[in-house]
Amino acid sequence: MRVLGIETSCDETGVALYDSERGLLADALYSQIEMHIEHGGVVPELASRDHVRRLIPLIEQIFHDAGIERGDVDGIAYTAGPGLVGALMVGASTAHGLARAWQVPVLGVHHMEGHLLAPMLEEAHPDFPFIALLVSGGHTQLVEVRALGDYHLLGESLDDAAGEAFDKAARMLSLPYPGGPQIARLAERGNPQRFRFPRPMTDRPGLDFSFSGLKTHTLTAVRKLEAAGELDEQARADIARAFEEAVADTLVIKCRRALDQTGLKRLVVAGGVSANRRLRERLDAMVAKREARAFYPRGRFCTDNGAMIAYVGAQRLAAGERDDTSLRATPRWPL
Ligand code: KG4
Ligand code: ZN
Repeated sequence: MRVLGIETSCDETGVALYDSERGLLADALYSQIEMHIEHGGVVPELASRDHVRRLIPLIEQIFHDAGIERGDVDGIAYTAGPGLVGALMVGASTAHGLARAWQVPVLGVHHMEGHLLAPMLEEAHPDFPFIALLVSGGHTQLVEVRALGDYHLLGESLDDAAGEAFDKAARMLSLPYPGGPQIARLAERGNPQRFRFPRPMTDRPGLDFSFSGLKTHTLTAVRKLEAAGELDEQARADIARAFEEAVADTLVIKCRRALDQTGLKRLVVAGGVSANRRLRERLDAMVAKREARAFYPRGRFCTDNGAMIAYVGAQRLAAGERDDTSLRATPRWPL
């Protein structure tokens, strides 16, 4: 089964062609980040308009790259949510329009299921069941994945998502959006001994997270140093390091708990924050001690992309799922 996947839930236009037998045939991504930077975050109206501009040319490009005739697919999958409703509508209406023209089935899929299964696109991919840590700008969740579509939520953030905390902490340090990679870069030069930030909710049982306290902690540290006239480049790097260490540690502690609690030996880490190098090092060390294994998507499939949507679509369309004639755009949609 060959499927065109379309992702337009936020500020990335992603498209891909996935073939159940041959794997990923082509993928392309256009990031709007440059456009949103000057606003300090994603402006929904601008995002929708840019998806309209980019989507069709990107789709034409991947058919060309894959060397297959335009429209020669068995189905189309698009992100139906969660996300920005205007942005989602662009992908949904394009998918439905093309499906009607090419007379193939179309299916709206869940963005987070895409992230969850993104490591399946790799040669070394996990078998079911596994634990998945989903860490993006909008979500922080621990999920027990028993099979395709059989997801059991073990814990989630009660306030800010991990990526959101990175983005907000970055803003406090006068770093541009998106903050995760910026904090990671600055933290390289930071001294991990200078500040110690809390590891929220690790001192009590359970698998939920809370990152808003870390944000407040960062703000307090920044203000204190600023008032003392000591917020120099080194101090900013030291804060970035303390923040990154605290988030990574907290995520590792909860993943360890989830593995121990379920007895599972495979951990999948996906979503934008899974690109974080320090987090990966810590997780790799933790799983090695338990004779377990961690799986990550390749770098460019950690953040939003069309390949993960094409993959999920191929599985579900093959199982006979499809949309009726109405398109779907669901801004809030639990996994
Ligand atoms: O999955 P994603 O591309 O979009 C959604 O939120 O669905 O994730 C974006 C998030 C942003 O908050 C960004 O700051 C964070 O992932 N991020 C990182 C890194 N790269 C991206 N956070 C920490 N370290 C990174 N290297
Ligand atoms: Zn995402």
